[in-house]
Amino acid sequence: MAKIISPSLLSADFLRLGDECQMLNRSAAEWFHLDVMDGVFVPNISFGMPVIGAVRKMTNKVLDAHLMIVEPERYITNFAKLGVDFLTVHCEATVHLHRTLQAIKAEGMRAGVALNPSTSLWAIEEVLPEADMVLLMSVNPGFGGQKFIETTIDKVKRLRRMIDERGLQTLIQIDGGVNTHNAKMLFEAGCDVLVAGNAVFGSDDPVKTIEELLK
Ligand code: DX5
Ligand code: ZN
Repeated sequence: MAKIISPSLLSADFLRLGDECQMLNRSAAEWFHLDVMDGVFVPNISFGMPVIGAVRKMTNKVLDAHLMIVEPERYITNFAKLGVDFLTVHCEATVHLHRTLQAIKAEGMRAGVALNPSTSLWAIEEVLPEADMVLLMSVNPGFGGQKFIETTIDKVKRLRRMIDERGLQTLIQIDGGVNTHNAKMLFEAGCDVLVAGNAVFGSDDPVKTIEELLK
């Protein structure tokens, strides 16, 4: 199992985005998490292609884009051209999920599927072999800095079992309310990738906080 931290730039200081990227480049975080919101799938609007293109120029680390947008299949080629490595779509936002995951991989990216807290794991059971990663939301998507929903821990364990029983290599990512208090327990429950926004960028020493999340 992998043990990766993917800091969410949603909580970064956008006026100093270049400095924030350089700070992450020096840190133990292997991925950059990029939250794209359209104001339709979620009740918030964040940033899109121009910002991701600018971030791509600042780092060689893995760009992990989390699309909280309806009909994400319309923009797959755009994100591939920007140099995104992992493209994650919500299963609630695309009608033909199997086709969407295949289209992401056809563009040379790794395909992720995200589930809202209220969505059962059965929603992705049939497409699990097609997914390089499953993102379990541990808050309702749309905002950083929310409280971790505790029932997600059992969901992680059940997903871990589903993946292992089938002999798959699918990564499990968890997103929302991750902090230095619950990180260890989340890795132990079976997560491979922890997203952390507020915990990293809201701390006095983000580089040190990332190390603590990995301990
Ligand atoms: C929420 C986003 C998250 C968010 C996490 O909709 O998908 O990636 O930035 O932020 P924290 O870690 O502050 O909960
Ligand atoms: Zn996210």
